Amino acid sequence: MTGPDFASLRAACTDELAKSGCFDRAPWARAAVLKVERERFVPRDVWEWAKDGYRVLSYSTDPQAWARAVYDPVRAVVTQINDDERTPLTTDGLVRGAATSSVSALDIVCIKLGYLDLEPGHKVLDIGAGSGVNAALLEERAGAGNVVTIEIDTSLAEQAEHNLDTTGYTARVVCGDGENGFADSAPYDRLICTASARHIPRAWREQARPGGTILTPFGTLFSNSGLLRLTVGPDGTAEGRFVHTAAYMWLRSHRAPGGRPPRDGQERLSASPADPDKILDNDWHANFAIGQLVPGLTMQRTISEEDPRILLWDGKDSFASVCCAGWDEADAVLQQGPRSLWDEVLTARSWWDDHGRPETTRYGLTITADDQHHMWLDSPENPLVHSTA
Ligand SMILES: C[S@@+](CC[C@H](N)C(=O)[O-])C[C@H]1O[C@@H](n2cnc3c(N)ncnc32)[C@H](O)[C@@H]1O
Repeated sequence: MTGPDFASLRAACTDELAKSGCFDRAPWARAAVLKVERERFVPRDVWEWAKDGYRVLSYSTDPQAWARAVYDPVRAVVTQINDDERTPLTTDGLVRGAATSSVSALDIVCIKLGYLDLEPGHKVLDIGAGSGVNAALLEERAGAGNVVTIEIDTSLAEQAEHNLDTTGYTARVVCGDGENGFADSAPYDRLICTASARHIPRAWREQARPGGTILTPFGTLFSNSGLLRLTVGPDGTAEGRFVHTAAYMWLRSHRAPGGRPPRDGQERLSASPADPDKILDNDWHANFAIGQLVPGLTMQRTISEEDPRILLWDGKDSFASVCCAGWDEADAVLQQGPRSLWDEVLTARSWWDDHGRPETTRYGLTITADDQHHMWLDSPENPLVHSTA
């Protein structure tokens, strides 16, 4: 049996990416994607989603399916679950849990390369090495010796180093917490992160050259969906806009805190003035705004058919449970704790509707020298006001 024809798959994938405009901002990236042998970075056993858990997709048992996954232009390849704590397979052969590393989907990888405005000779810090493949693409543009890539997970860092070495790249792999950057090689012209942040670590601004760029997925626990591009000022400040949508796994310390809402304190019961399914209607842009306006918000939907509910929590001591079916009944909304989370969500959604339903790319962020983060709409003169302000 002949193995997969990787060169043809790579060429077809590159054509798809070109057709969907992924190289428009960085035409050089087309040749880079055609050159970097992605199959040499992806582990031979990866994870694929199967309805309610992950199962192994192995090159050894299905090389063609594995190769198609590697060269799928729009899907990430999950390479690690649950931080590699060896979760035993359940009886149905699936592993439940969260993806903690992946080889990112090529469409967003190329879009990010476009927004990075990378030039030959730039010094780049790549945060979240994973397989090392992004570092290889960066090196294709920045040149040998100009890329440092950091990975927090020891075994992934070792794999990235091996993958880069054996494919002929010189990028330096550092095993460590990318939130601290890597001061030894600073200053950097470009910092690019392949995990999502809830705030920008101070070290990234300190290690960027004035005028340099920080490009990172950025969001809230409620909506992890923006791609933020900041320009660093000479005085330790940074400012910039969201340039695209992007959903990535979190930087390790930015993940949702575990635990359960406390559910104590007086219960405040009311009807909801609006249908919860219309307020939280899965619109990415609405959710982005709600997440920014209601600090700390997380949401879960219950799966009960008779009594579907939306559960909200602020990660501290406020909780709300909203009944989706009989939402206009007098006891449909239960709120507890110092904050009335459902009221805050309703106010945030009205703000978004009243402001013409702005898309994610209308927002921006200013970070002051003393690390205050200020989100704004359209311009820094128009700051967002948190529901708790
Ligand atoms: C989307 S994945 C990697 C993508 C990678 N560029 C690729 O395509 O192979 C994100 C990676 O960030 C790593 N990561 C998470 N938090 C980190 C941190 N604080 N410092 C460095 N790496 C981190 C994860 O272990 C994971 O490997």
